[in-house]
Amino acid sequence: MEACKKIDIFNALNAEETRDVTLKCDRHGIVKTKILKVKNTWSKPACGKCFREEMKLKNLQEQQNLTQEKQQKKIDDLLAKALIPRRYKSATLKNYSPGDKTQTHALKICKRYVETFKIRHSEGMCLQFAGNVGTGKTHLANAILRAVIEQYSCSALFLKASAAVNRVNASFNTDSQTKQDAINALVEPDLLVLDEIEKTNDSAATKKLFFDILDARYDEIKPTIIITNLANKELESFLGAAISSRLKENRGLVLDFLGDDYRTKK
Ligand SMILES: Nc1ncnc2c1ncn2[C@@H]1O[C@H](COP(=O)(O)OP(=O)(O)O)[C@@H](O)[C@H]1O
Ligand SMILES: [Mg+2]
Ligand SMILES: [Zn+2]
Repeated sequence: MEACKKIDIFNALNAEETRDVTLKCDRHGIVKTKILKVKNTWSKPACGKCFREEMKLKNLQEQQNLTQEKQQKKIDDLLAKALIPRRYKSATLKNYSPGDKTQTHALKICKRYVETFKIRHSEGMCLQFAGNVGTGKTHLANAILRAVIEQYSCSALFLKASAAVNRVNASFNTDSQTKQDAINALVEPDLLVLDEIEKTNDSAATKKLFFDILDARYDEIKPTIIITNLANKELESFLGAAISSRLKENRGLVLDFLGDDYRTKK
């Protein structure tokens, strides 16, 4: 920004003498400008239009950097809050390589789900992943979480179902947080993933809590992804008809994951 020094109006105020001159600018043609004498030395003539354009551009770039920085910070915060487990930090839709037809289908649906997430979110469309261990169910769910955070700045949360239930249960022992507060915290994220639902304990109380969480999200039309290592046909009887039908509303899908354990193939 050499030019600014020479024609900055504030420099002109300190000048011992000024003189009007014309110069030929490559971009603006013949322009009128001033040269200044400061400490007995005359400044070189410079184009005022170029100077203003440079300033404008510089301000714009600074503003863009600031909004980019802000946006990145927001995404980093959302990612931190999502509690993506360390093992799945690098899981993406791109690095999932399907091992069979069911996984190819699942990947396709997951990609579509992300591409159209604004609509899916507004309809509260849920997904259920059911099938063999090591077929990448948890991988894909975390990949979806990351994508909706990065692409839409949505809030998201990954929890094992047992951890979600424990959070609500723990609220019974504190004065500051009621059960409803704990459930509200699970309703808040735009997308919630509950993993390994079959590992929640079998008691009627736990089932009721699990229902309360999903029902609260259902009432707010917020999508949830449910993951289980149970087979599709065992899933519905595990969940019960009331939850199952809520999860399937608005084109909610159950995706089968057959195929072999990826861990033993590596
Ligand atoms: N098709 C796949 N492509 C790439 N990585 C995979 C695939 N399936 C599984 N993995 C990886 O294998 C490990 C186990 O997968 P995971 O998602 O935990 O399976 P599941 O939840 O179905 O038991 C993870 O590290 C995951 O990233
Ligand atoms: Mg898993
Ligand atoms: Zn110019």
